[in-house]
Amino acid sequence: MIIGAQFGDEGKGKITDYLSAAANWVVRFQGGPNAGHTLVVDGRRIVLHQVPSSILRERCAAVSGPGMVISPTDMVEEIRQLGEAGILRGSLHISERAHLILPWHRMEDAWEEEMRGGQPTGTTMRGIGPTYRDRVGRWGLRMADLSRPRLLKEKLERLYATKTHIEKKGRTLASVGDVADELTAASEVLAPYIRPTEPLLWKALDRGENILLEGAQGTFLDIDFGSYPFTTSSHTVLAGAFSGSGIPPHTPEEVIGITKSYTTRVGNGPFPTELTDEIGERIREKGGEKGSTTGRARRCGWLDLVMLRYSSRINSLSSFAVTKVDVLGGEESVKVCVGYKGKDGAAIEDYPPTLAEDMALVEPIYEVRPGWPEFTQQLKEKIREEGWQAIPAELGSYLAFVSQETGTPVRLVSFGPDREDTVLLPPALPHGGRPLSEWKGGSA
Ligand code: IMP
Repeated sequence: MIIGAQFGDEGKGKITDYLSAAANWVVRFQGGPNAGHTLVVDGRRIVLHQVPSSILRERCAAVSGPGMVISPTDMVEEIRQLGEAGILRGSLHISERAHLILPWHRMEDAWEEEMRGGQPTGTTMRGIGPTYRDRVGRWGLRMADLSRPRLLKEKLERLYATKTHIEKKGRTLASVGDVADELTAASEVLAPYIRPTEPLLWKALDRGENILLEGAQGTFLDIDFGSYPFTTSSHTVLAGAFSGSGIPPHTPEEVIGITKSYTTRVGNGPFPTELTDEIGERIREKGGEKGSTTGRARRCGWLDLVMLRYSSRINSLSSFAVTKVDVLGGEESVKVCVGYKGKDGAAIEDYPPTLAEDMALVEPIYEVRPGWPEFTQQLKEKIREEGWQAIPAELGSYLAFVSQETGTPVRLVSFGPDREDTVLLPPALPHGGRPLSEWKGGSA
């Protein structure tokens, strides 16, 4: 189980890719084309938004699950790109329960952002919120509807009637006929992939196969537990993995929370540790912090342990995977937020304020930690060869501090974009392998 522990973009795609080597199935359980993952295969750039990236692995089936909202036309495009590159290797299964994002939803997304005046969410404009709203309002259309053209048209007509108010705002809606034609065309390509996906996964569980559930976005974008209303519209936390896949909520074997060694956020909303100075700019540059779906610059800031403690608890995390440790390499010192001072002066350690307005007013309390060396090619090679023992002491100390402060061991560390730039820390040595007394600096 892979869950984003922050505001999304933590590097889940890379860790999924790394772990899918041992998986028989990878399941996306929420979200839709608001997520994005760029793959470079034989020099060809492919951007996947709705197909799990495990599709590149021959023996690993990819499932776009029931909890997703899917744009059929974008899905056709992803399948076309994969087919052209000859890498639709594993099998792809699209849940017949996944909801359809229609052109009307995208239009509503844009219109609603305008309606919010000075407080837009900063959505990806992919129609995510309006589609999930139609789902809970019971107006939505699903993948299963694509196989019944007459019923599909009737449902589209009923849904269209709920949308015409937008036309009064000077926007022209696509006609029912045009949307039906678009869906019919998409359906011809998608039909072979659409099926009930829960039974496939139940049978896989019975056979003892490995299933990897891949979350999109992150804990603090969860519709209930994130920084509402600056969130996405689905459940990004562990609980959402069950309802969004149809896998019964047994305790999963392992829940890995992905966190960067710092924090980023795209879109609006409170961000206590945000850096608006040259350090933030340096992190953005060095980390290539640009949204993979919208190309927007990501806001950057220090690591926030209040968020990670909450994340660890709500997701029942068994470990953290810390990504992009190379990006902070070369900094003389780094800061970690160990708590907040709330607006009334109260100390906050593990439960961020519920109201975004209060979250915007908290003051982060920092601990300064020694920085670690630049990740030169030489250092990378040394870690690839020798493993965790070659991690610089200051970085080990930083990871130990994160483990200690969150009560959650760091088990995986990613120090570059390539598959080999990943190192596993041994379970018995969650603090990087050196006794805590030997770490330099800070309070570790
Ligand atoms: P929506 O999901 O397009 O409705 O956007 C709602 C909020 O979630 C906005 O702040 C987006 O920037 C953010 N968001 C949505 N998807 C992602 C993602 O994959 N990574 C990071 N932020 C995201």
